[in-house]
Amino acid sequence: MRLLRAIFVWCNLFGVFELSFGAKERNYEFDVEYIYKKPDCLEHVVMGINGQFPGPTIRAEVGDTLVINVTNKLSTEGTVIHWHGIRQRGTPWADGTAAISQCAINPGETFQYKFEVDKSGTYFYHGHYGMQRAAGLYGSLIVDLPKSQREPFHYDGEFNLLLSDLWHTSSHEQEVGLSSAPMRWIGEPQTLLINGRGQFNCSLAAKFVNTTLPQCNFKGDEECAPEILQVKPKKTYRIRIASTTSLASLNLAISNANQLHGNGSEIHPWHLHGHDFWVLGYGEGKFKPLDAKSFNLTRAPLRNTVVVFPYGWTALRFKADNPGVWAFHCHIEPHLHMGMGVIFAEGVHKIRKVPTEALTCGATAKMLLNDTLH
Ligand code: C2O
Ligand code: CU
Repeated sequence: MRLLRAIFVWCNLFGVFELSFGAKERNYEFDVEYIYKKPDCLEHVVMGINGQFPGPTIRAEVGDTLVINVTNKLSTEGTVIHWHGIRQRGTPWADGTAAISQCAINPGETFQYKFEVDKSGTYFYHGHYGMQRAAGLYGSLIVDLPKSQREPFHYDGEFNLLLSDLWHTSSHEQEVGLSSAPMRWIGEPQTLLINGRGQFNCSLAAKFVNTTLPQCNFKGDEECAPEILQVKPKKTYRIRIASTTSLASLNLAISNANQLHGNGSEIHPWHLHGHDFWVLGYGEGKFKPLDAKSFNLTRAPLRNTVVVFPYGWTALRFKADNPGVWAFHCHIEPHLHMGMGVIFAEGVHKIRKVPTEALTCGATAKMLLNDTLH
């Protein structure tokens, strides 16, 4: 009994509860706030979670339920967090898209995201309100296979790389620019980050570290020192890569040097919420019915994001089997901000009771309150 209690207390401390048959409930408290950080050696205000930037890594097993209480500690703006790639089957209100799946969380308020992770993989989460992703609101979410199942390949160790981009202008300034007439584009990011670290001006150099610049000499304990992955020869490593960049399309090269390449904003990576889809094909010009002849109907890759090339089309197919209101949009944040997105309202009449917290904020909160008073 004492042992049991000890185990319970121990699990409790880490916010993990055993559900049925190995599936666990994992609890997190996320306080979203602006913090000072030196991600690229220069000090900036970025969005952090619990004082961390990028936010804490969430790690769970297939079948687990994540319970994340997100508290908005920003003083003047709403927030939400979207769990990118998680399908939210049966819990569309936990998708974390402001004004689509829920009301924005007002300053001082807490919203509980509770959902099951039903598929293993390397995911990430990010803000889905205004330009909060560019402001730094993101982190990794990794879902492992259950212990009883083996990965299809063996590896001796693993690394998790979360790629992102950083601007020296604030996301507020960017928002104003984008909605001004004439519009002012946000421009290229100043620095590319791996796990929240990058070197302003050093990463432009062909060498890993440009030692000719004084700010590019690292002892290794600096906040912005390059992250070094320790590997042993003849071992196999799994590298998990997720890109939460707001703008940059990246190619990651592994050789003597790490090179990230910051262009290609004329391509549009489209992302679908609530589903994975099959990519059937793509081509140049406008899609013509004849193009369907070349569709890949037998070995189409399953994705949740796909690129549409300039002056081209991309065809995808998904099964509408998850009632909800789902965003489908270009994942370049300023493009979405300027309107490059649509919403699929899917089997909405089949959705069971939506938690009121998802429905209420601002005027709707007042409306609902009046309804209950009358
Ligand atoms: Cu990762 Cu709607 O976005
Ligand atoms: Cu785009």
